[in-house]
Amino acid sequence: MESNTSEPFLVVNDVVKSFTVGKRSLVDRIMRRKPQTFNAVDHVSLSANRGETLAVVGESGSGKTTLGRLIVGLEKPDSGEVLVGGKKVRYVRQNPEGRGRLQMVFQDPSSSLDPYMTVEECVAESIVKNPLKRHEIRQRVIEALMLTGLDSSFLKKKTRELSGGQKQRVAIARAIISDPELIVLDEPTSALDVSIQAQILNLLVELQKLKRFTYVLITHDVKVARYMADSVAVMYLGRFVEYGAAKHVLSQPLHPYTQALFDAVPKVGSNLQVYLEGEVPSFLKVPKGCRYVTRCRFAMEICKTRYPEQKYVKNRGVWCYLYSDHVV
Ligand SMILES: Nc1ncnc2c1ncn2[C@@H]1O[C@H](COP(=O)(O)OP(=O)(O)OP(=O)(O)O)[C@@H](O)[C@H]1O
Ligand code: SF4
Ligand SMILES: [Mg+2]
Repeated sequence: MESNTSEPFLVVNDVVKSFTVGKRSLVDRIMRRKPQTFNAVDHVSLSANRGETLAVVGESGSGKTTLGRLIVGLEKPDSGEVLVGGKKVRYVRQNPEGRGRLQMVFQDPSSSLDPYMTVEECVAESIVKNPLKRHEIRQRVIEALMLTGLDSSFLKKKTRELSGGQKQRVAIARAIISDPELIVLDEPTSALDVSIQAQILNLLVELQKLKRFTYVLITHDVKVARYMADSVAVMYLGRFVEYGAAKHVLSQPLHPYTQALFDAVPKVGSNLQVYLEGEVPSFLKVPKGCRYVTRCRFAMEICKTRYPEQKYVKNRGVWCYLYSDHVV
């Protein structure tokens, strides 16, 4: 389905997703104590054009995966909406057929693929409900595998027999077999050996050129964002702090958090998560004003009062009291 040409292909409109902390005990229920909740995604809006890549970057726990799951309909927003091609994305349990056009590739192929299934079963999974004959399904599986650089000799292999890179190719084949329009790539290379990462990124770029996929790329790795992204959103504790074209945000980050994140060196041997100075506050103790205030070296009194409005500075949105709109 083509989107209306004047509208971006992907639109996320003021989306909120809350989670409940822990389970409520019987005593809590009897005492009618309200469960503790927090917004893992808190009033987030974004858009992306068809065939482009939007990268969402941020530290662990900032809400990136939750945002990705909301975009493909694996989570139901508390409020706000997601539109793809002008059509509202529905929660997947209510609309399983929606999964075809919206796909997600997960971080660790070893846990996202069933180790006891064959490659053929795994890749065919998202089209088995289609009215296709068995040989047609097999043909589609082979085509999807070929597009990811694998051949029919892999069909009968169990996924546990494959290398990390091969598993991620199978996960990508499974995502593309239903001819999706949009794919959320959740840290697609961070579980892979460094030597394999570039191959998988190249594959994703080639597939995008060929099929005009729209990607939402979740990554903590600025190099990956630099390689693939057209636009970049930087997320901290459920909110965007900076958002704009990759060429602007990556070459001249303005928000103090973006600057710290881009300067941070990924720590080897720790799943390549980035570590910045200071602790990320718990979602249950989110600062009242700017969420970065507890770690920011530029923090001022005003930063503690309320969350900064979005300012348009040097061609991007930035949420920080250091800036005002008129700076071009
Ligand atoms: N189903 C859930 N129930 C309760 N809390 C959840 C649920 N899913 C995520 N969370 C919490 O929401 C917050 C955001 O999680 P999310 O996985 O979206 O972050 P992330 O940025 O993807 O982190 P990472 O880089 O570690 O993958 C975290 O505090 C997480 O523990
Ligand atoms: S609003 Fe204040 S605390 Fe937040 S990033 Fe800007 S200067 Fe730092
Ligand atoms: Mg995640």
